Amino acid sequence: MATTTTPITGVDLDSYWMPFTGNRQFKAEPRIIVGADGWYYQSADGRKILDGLSGLWCCGAGHNRSELAQAIAAQAQELDYAPAFQFGHPKAFQLAQKLRDLTPPGLEHVFFTNSGSESTETSLKIARGYWRQKGQPGKTRLIGRAKGYHGVNFGGISVGGIGANRKLFGATLETDHLSHTLLPENRFTRGMPEQGAALADELDELVALHDASNIAAVIVEPFAGSGGVIPPPLGYLQRLRELCDKHDILLIFDEVITGFGRCGATTGAEFFGVTPDIANFAKQLTNGVIPMGAVVVSPEIYQTFMATGGPDYMVEFPHGYTYSGHPIACAAGLAALEIFEKEDLAGQVAAKAGHFEDCIHGLANHPHVLDVRNIGFAGALTLAAYDGEPARRPYEVAMWCWQRGLYVRYGGDTLQFGPAFVMDNADVAEMFNIVGDALRAAA
Ligand SMILES: Cc1ncc(COP(=O)(O)O)c(C=O)c1O
Repeated sequence: MATTTTPITGVDLDSYWMPFTGNRQFKAEPRIIVGADGWYYQSADGRKILDGLSGLWCCGAGHNRSELAQAIAAQAQELDYAPAFQFGHPKAFQLAQKLRDLTPPGLEHVFFTNSGSESTETSLKIARGYWRQKGQPGKTRLIGRAKGYHGVNFGGISVGGIGANRKLFGATLETDHLSHTLLPENRFTRGMPEQGAALADELDELVALHDASNIAAVIVEPFAGSGGVIPPPLGYLQRLRELCDKHDILLIFDEVITGFGRCGATTGAEFFGVTPDIANFAKQLTNGVIPMGAVVVSPEIYQTFMATGGPDYMVEFPHGYTYSGHPIACAAGLAALEIFEKEDLAGQVAAKAGHFEDCIHGLANHPHVLDVRNIGFAGALTLAAYDGEPARRPYEVAMWCWQRGLYVRYGGDTLQFGPAFVMDNADVAEMFNIVGDALRAAA
């Protein structure tokens, strides 16, 4: 069998089946990252690369933070692993308390996972289990939203709204989807668009179709991230909250991107002023240094499981992962959230978001740009497609940027930006200068 090697590392590239990657193209032209510092990567060919997405939306405090390295090393020497089931260790409780303190009132009990995808599955199972324990076992249907991304497991792709992530995999769970809120009349809006709150009323139609007695939960990202940074229309999330309350349907926020700073507040819930019944986290929880996720639920949900769990030695929620609340992940999470608070990372984003907005909207008149969207330290460009090849232009522009020392995310017909919260204004401007050059070069 043919193997691909790279003179950069001398390793066989074929062994590794890379996730969400065009493996054939990558292995023909590898982009290997060997180091990081602050908001820069270092490539294997020795170049400094500006990190335009804080890794994958997860390293807001910047890379290679010594506080995190020390916390991880110390924990590995003190308690490397403890059984997650039926036994506990102090840092899991400490981190849960920290999350309770950082999330809005009404989100009080924390279940740990290892990723955003696992947070999705956990939250959907909590929602269904909750209704069953409340004596309403028919409430099983799950409602997502078109262009939503909730990870890659079966629950996540069922409620997810990105067709390309679903089409290979056959039958999904019983779900429906609200329409996305990416409306042509909102193109080039700075921040939250004015049009579209009424799209939340589609939930009424789904209730008319299925009856609320069959619907467990609605899950949305406060702003859609991977679908192309789509800020919610003004009033949309409030309307969704009202309708969920009206119909006794749980509202789940997938805060895997919005959690811990991205919008310029601690959570999307806080930023948009809407508290869900369940909030999912991952990514920024440990600043990306160790995999970890969390699901934070209301007292009503937690107490329902406690009250209906049978004898008190019985498991109330038969769910969990070997690595739920892993001691090293908890140590990393505590250290990351200490940095988050001490350095006021949410405040830094809030202070710099206007500059970010000015810079990204400065690209509005560049070749191929069909739309510009932004919220906090997140933004996206929609690019005009080649005939029948919607994903090609963003890929080409991103490759040009990589050659010029900028890593940007490309997905579907969009380029996406999510710099570290600590990135300074000059490098935010530089990031968009490089993209501007790339767009002109692609003209
Ligand atoms: C909103 C949202 N949910 C879930 C996920 C999945 O997270 P993970 O890749 O850690 O499984 C992501 C990842 O980008 C995400 O953005």
